[in-house]
Amino acid sequence: MTDYMLWKNEIVERKPENAMVSFEDRGYQFGDGVYEVIRIYDGKLHVLDWHLDRLFYSMEQLAIRAPFSRSEIKQLLKQLIEKNKFTIDGKIYLQVTRGIQPRDHVYMEDLDALFYATVDRFDQPVEMWDKGVKVMLQEDIRWLRCDIKSLNLLGNVIARTKAQRSGYHEPLFHREGIVRECGASNFYMIKDGVIHTHPTNHYILGGITRKKVLLFAKELEIPVKEREIKVEELQDADECFLTATPLEVVPIIQIDKNPVNNNEIGDITKRLQQYYRKRIYDYLE
Ligand SMILES: Cc1ncc(COP(=O)(O)O)c(C=O)c1O
Repeated sequence: MTDYMLWKNEIVERKPENAMVSFEDRGYQFGDGVYEVIRIYDGKLHVLDWHLDRLFYSMEQLAIRAPFSRSEIKQLLKQLIEKNKFTIDGKIYLQVTRGIQPRDHVYMEDLDALFYATVDRFDQPVEMWDKGVKVMLQEDIRWLRCDIKSLNLLGNVIARTKAQRSGYHEPLFHREGIVRECGASNFYMIKDGVIHTHPTNHYILGGITRKKVLLFAKELEIPVKEREIKVEELQDADECFLTATPLEVVPIIQIDKNPVNNNEIGDITKRLQQYYRKRIYDYLE
């Protein structure tokens, strides 16, 4: 664990007594807030502006008054890294809650939003990259604004717990017969050399890694189709993979009890994985 955290506008020692939350904080009572997870490589922030775009989008969609400007939060996050003398691979967790008021579903408009951030070591998930993971199909019971990176993650919490207790890495959510995304990552299927993935809308989180992977696919001249994939199409998939900020590109080798590509990592997935790694250092600040 690192020694310092960002608490509101200050870098403080990372001790519980330095960052106390009121029982009337709306994040505590309703999960009324948003968050970001930002990857750090060699002590530098990765695609920071893309994460801040999404953070401001999430706050705007929920009418949370941003407690900082883009340049202020950039500076604070960099100070947090510096103060911790953090020069290795890791990730930042940044959370904003709407503020404090007596419990009421209806929020007041003039609340002061609260925020904190921590930085922690995160080692490369080499085993997942090399061996792939299994996913478990589950009905998507989340709300219908999955495009907002909301703190309220009960649907994900229940599904991911069930998946992991059953020996799978992630749930693979489906709703109305359509494959949506995983519990904490975006999903892709490769068929006849084409990458298929869900379009960005309210059914999925528009992943930062997804955006990057689609850009890299273009650079590698691998065709992409953003479209709804039916659950029954999965049985004919040539390859599948998932993406998320901490994990980058991870092959999926099994869906429920069914092997994908004979439990082997496919060529296109491997190419994307390697290319993603190679290009990381072009997006640091
Ligand atoms: C539901 C969900 N989908 C997709 C993602 C991947 O998003 P990103 O690539 O921005 O980490 C996440 C990440 O936490 C997630 O929680």
